[in-house]
Parts: sequence; structure tokens; C-alpha cells
Amino acid sequence: MIYRPIPIDREITFSQKKFIVSKTDLKGKILFVNKNLCDISGYTEEELIGTSHNILRHPDMPRAIFFLIWSNLLRGEPVSGVVKNLAKSGEYYWVIADFDVKKDPQGHIKSFTAFRRAAPQQVIDEVEELYDSMLKVEKKHGIEGSLSYFEAYLNERGMNYDEFLTDLVAPKGLMAKFFSAFKGLLGQETEH
Ligand SMILES: Cc1cc2nc3c(=O)[nH]c(=O)nc-3n(C[C@H](O)[C@H](O)[C@H](O)COP(=O)(O)O)c2cc1C
Repeated sequence: MIYRPIPIDREITFSQKKFIVSKTDLKGKILFVNKNLCDISGYTEEELIGTSHNILRHPDMPRAIFFLIWSNLLRGEPVSGVVKNLAKSGEYYWVIADFDVKKDPQGHIKSFTAFRRAAPQQVIDEVEELYDSMLKVEKKHGIEGSLSYFEAYLNERGMNYDEFLTDLVAPKGLMAKFFSAFKGLLGQETEH
């Protein structure tokens, strides 16, 4: 049994080149983690494997964001998100996460993978304000209220969630090349 840490207002920063990888079953139970996840979150592999991925959930994250992520994944579609995570120490770290769906040859969903990199400050600044507003709405009007708020936010910008994310986080230049090369390796790494 792992106790949930009490959040403290201190950020963990890490290199843009450190990719954090994990794999879960269909319910979000952790099946695989890479070393970077352990190093940054402060949990050991033994502590994480078999645990629900929400062990890393930070209370500043609106539920509506996870709802959107899970709705895509359970439809079998990849999705991205900007996520504030809670480390074992109570500190936080921001990531850009790309979630993917692994299917068997018959097309049945087998597992989900998440591939994350450090979020740049301008990305954090933009979503922090948005998430803060969503969280306030969520406390009063529940997840439906915060989903409506987010929908209105996207409508104002003439974007859907995917377009918003792409616009916000798409890696540029050399980083994009490095990133996609590493992602190619990810499939092999999580095949256990
Ligand atoms: C592959 C995968 C990776 C995930 N990684 C994280 C993560 O790093 N941090 C997090 O808070 N939730 C992550 N989640 C979402 C959690 O499963 C969970 O939905 C979320 O923490 C919200 O908790 P709740 O569903 O209990 O409200 C991940 C889900 C999947 C499928």
C-alpha cells in the first residue's frame, strides 16, 4: 500500500531529452515503467508495477482532462495531454504526454503506453491558467461543468482538443527529429 504524498509547492525540472515511459492495462494499472519515471517520480519500479497510474495524479489536475484522455484511449485512438504529476516527495513536474494504444492483430485493445517529455515553460504557463479555471468550475459544477468550460475555451479559438494540443506542444526543428526517432524505439522497449 502506497500512501498518497502531500503536495508541496516545489517543482522538479529535468532535461528535455529525458523521456518518461510507462505502459498500463485497460484499467490504468501499471505494467511497465522506464528508469526515468522512477528517477523523476521518486518511486521504485517495485512500488509502481501493479499500482494504478493515478498514484501520480496531482490535485491541481482537472478530472475533465483525464476524462478526455480516457475517452480517446478507450475508443482506440491515440491522444496527447499536458499533465502536472505528483512525485513521491510531494513535489510536482510538468510533462507533455503522448498516449498510444496497443492492439492485437484482431484489433482488440491490449494495453496503453504513455511517452512523456518535460513541458517547456510557455506550455506550462498557458495550461496552468486554463487548468486552474477548469478546477474552480469543477469544484462547483462537477466534471460536466469543466468540460463545458473547456469546450467554450476551444470554441473561442476555433479549435478542437487535438488542434489545441498540436498547436501548443508540437516539437519543433531538431527536437522533433530526435523525438520521433526515440518514439520509434518505444514500441520495442515496452513489448514485454
Ligand atoms: C498509459 C497511461 C499513462 C498515464 N499516466 C498518468 C500520469 O503520468 N499521471 C496521471 O496523473 N495520470 C496518468 N494516467 C491517467 C490515470 O490512469 C488516471 O486516470 C488519472 O490519474 C486520474 O485519476 P482518476 O481516474 O482516479 O481520477 C495515465 C493513464 C494511462 C492509460
